[in-house]
Amino acid sequence: MNRFYITTPIYYVNAEPHIGHAYTTIVADAMNRFHKLMGFKTFFLTGTDEHGDKIAQAAQAAGIEPKAYADRVSGLFRQIWPKLSVENDKFIRTTDSEHMEVVQYVLQKVFDAGEIYFSSYKGQYCVGCERFYTEREIVDGKCPDHDKPLIEREEANYFFKMSKYQDWLIAHLESNPDCIRPERYRNEVLAFLREPLEDLCISRPVERLNWGIPLPFDAKYVTYVWFDALINYVSAIGYPDGELYREFWPVAQHIIAKDILKPHGIYWPAMLKAAGIPMFRHLNVHGYWNTGAGKMSKSHGTVVRPLDLAPVYGLDAFRYFLLREMVFGLDANFNEEALVQRLNADLANDLGNLFSRTLAMTARYFDEKIPPFGSQPDEKDLELRARVEEAIVQFREEIPALGFHKALVAIWECIGAANKYIDYVSPWNLAKDERLLPRLQTVVRTLLEVNRVVAVLISPFMPLTSEKMLERLAIGKTAADLRLAEDTVWGSLQEGAKVSKGESLFPRIEAPGKKLPKEAKQGAGKSAGGDVSPMPKEEIKSKGDAPSAPMDEGLIDIDLFRQVDLRVGLIKKAEKVPQSEKLVKLIVDIGEERQIVAGIAKTHSPEDLVGKQVVLVANLKPAKLMGIESHGMILAVRDGQDLKLVVPEQNVSPGGKIS
Ligand code: MSP
Repeated sequence: MNRFYITTPIYYVNAEPHIGHAYTTIVADAMNRFHKLMGFKTFFLTGTDEHGDKIAQAAQAAGIEPKAYADRVSGLFRQIWPKLSVENDKFIRTTDSEHMEVVQYVLQKVFDAGEIYFSSYKGQYCVGCERFYTEREIVDGKCPDHDKPLIEREEANYFFKMSKYQDWLIAHLESNPDCIRPERYRNEVLAFLREPLEDLCISRPVERLNWGIPLPFDAKYVTYVWFDALINYVSAIGYPDGELYREFWPVAQHIIAKDILKPHGIYWPAMLKAAGIPMFRHLNVHGYWNTGAGKMSKSHGTVVRPLDLAPVYGLDAFRYFLLREMVFGLDANFNEEALVQRLNADLANDLGNLFSRTLAMTARYFDEKIPPFGSQPDEKDLELRARVEEAIVQFREEIPALGFHKALVAIWECIGAANKYIDYVSPWNLAKDERLLPRLQTVVRTLLEVNRVVAVLISPFMPLTSEKMLERLAIGKTAADLRLAEDTVWGSLQEGAKVSKGESLFPRIEAPGKKLPKEAKQGAGKSAGGDVSPMPKEEIKSKGDAPSAPMDEGLIDIDLFRQVDLRVGLIKKAEKVPQSEKLVKLIVDIGEERQIVAGIAKTHSPEDLVGKQVVLVANLKPAKLMGIESHGMILAVRDGQDLKLVVPEQNVSPGGKIS
């Protein structure tokens, strides 16, 4: 059986969990879920790094013992992961006795092999980094990371012969080009290795720091925090002789950000080599999220911390944003506006709408039952299916190669294509003619199949949404039971099974910082009067990413209504669209001239229309109808077979805003 082992850094307990920690851990979770979906046996590790100067100082500042302090903050990390749908198999703490024993075991082993020596050292030390800096690294007499003056310090300490492993490491990275990825970080490590490597000081005298693991061969010293921390990756799985270690270490992959490349790309390989432990398989390095604290949106006067946004906008929306927005390896900016934009465009409009429309049609035309493929697929059906197959291939290839955003783009291309397919096929027209029932069945079934594959493909990224979709599509499996190979086979939905429409997956958000629109369960005003629109409902929804309301009618805030720019317009010209029974092309004066294509030709002749004042939506995204661009929508009321235009009580100046 294939195996997959993924680790995150173990996080320092001197700061509460934030967006950076969340990103790394969510990426690890998505990779882990992906491998489960591929049928791998997986192990996913995260945890906290609790020893060292930094923690001792933070505890002192908080006025409590280091262990009590570590217990509290470690608890915060442990609690937050399930809230972000992170399903790790183990949470390790460097204060766990099993871990401490393994650290001592490794130290002893390396010491016995003659790879650790005792020596006096005088140098420039940074308390924040807990390490000495070499002349080469110091910038203007300061620590390059903290921009603070360094302290001169002399100490007799234990050193690990790291320099000895330089040539071996260069050779390893050259013969395993994807060991450190993306390539820019491999190059960075290789560039560092072009200069002579120094030995690594791996001890701290107890009188200066006692919050650490004692050296097994000299109790007057504790272990340097990085030597302690890195070993978590093997201690957590039972090194040296545990079953998990045997199973999973050969396939180990780490995920870190660029800030800790050096300890992972240089110290850790050298430590492994010295201890006789095989190298990890991949070190996956991502960039930094910049939150531009000053620029963060404010809500009720307080600065929003990015992690606080997850429950506000929804967990899956948050995960989607992080994974879609950052190109793995590069830096990215986090801002609330961008999150809301993605939520509205990609999730509410594209995915949410596709799912609602598909289920609404299944309900309306087939009494909620999954129809058979009634007729042979036509060219459009096959085109859409090919898109889906392509998305599956991309998904399978991109995720193991860290192309999370590319995998998502491929899935969303498929969602976009399915929405366009609905517009093109116009199922509501097929529904008017009983002879076209087999075709309608095929169309709706095709759409249901697309939704099913999408539900499977999004499962590593958005597990909750995937679950909801699976349930409503009457697929008797949870996301955890899915297997890519069998669950994306075209046509495998259960014919006759009953789907359930439910609420919209992603309600639209009006603006950053505002609450979600209230979801009203009943369709307010649904049948009180005619729909104010000249087109069938589906057609209006079909305007792709236009700001349409979700399919489920609900109450909206006044602000949402105000986003719709309603104007009075004077019709200057009108002509029928050739080869269309119902479309007419209008030139309407709203202070400027607008070309609008309206579906009113059956009830209104072009001659009658010229000179009339009408009401129109002026800020709709342009759409093409029968190849003609339309820049707005005329309002009308359907009254039985008839259609009446909405007009002002008396003539007003063209362009007058309706409020
Ligand atoms: N304790 C060490 C790691 C030891 S691993 C053997 C440590 N801890 S940390 O709490 O500082 O976590 C650093 C990691 O948190 C980064 O490598 C990254 O995974 C994550 N991030 C912290 N801030 C980040 C951003 N602003 N952006 C992206 N990820 C960041 O270093």
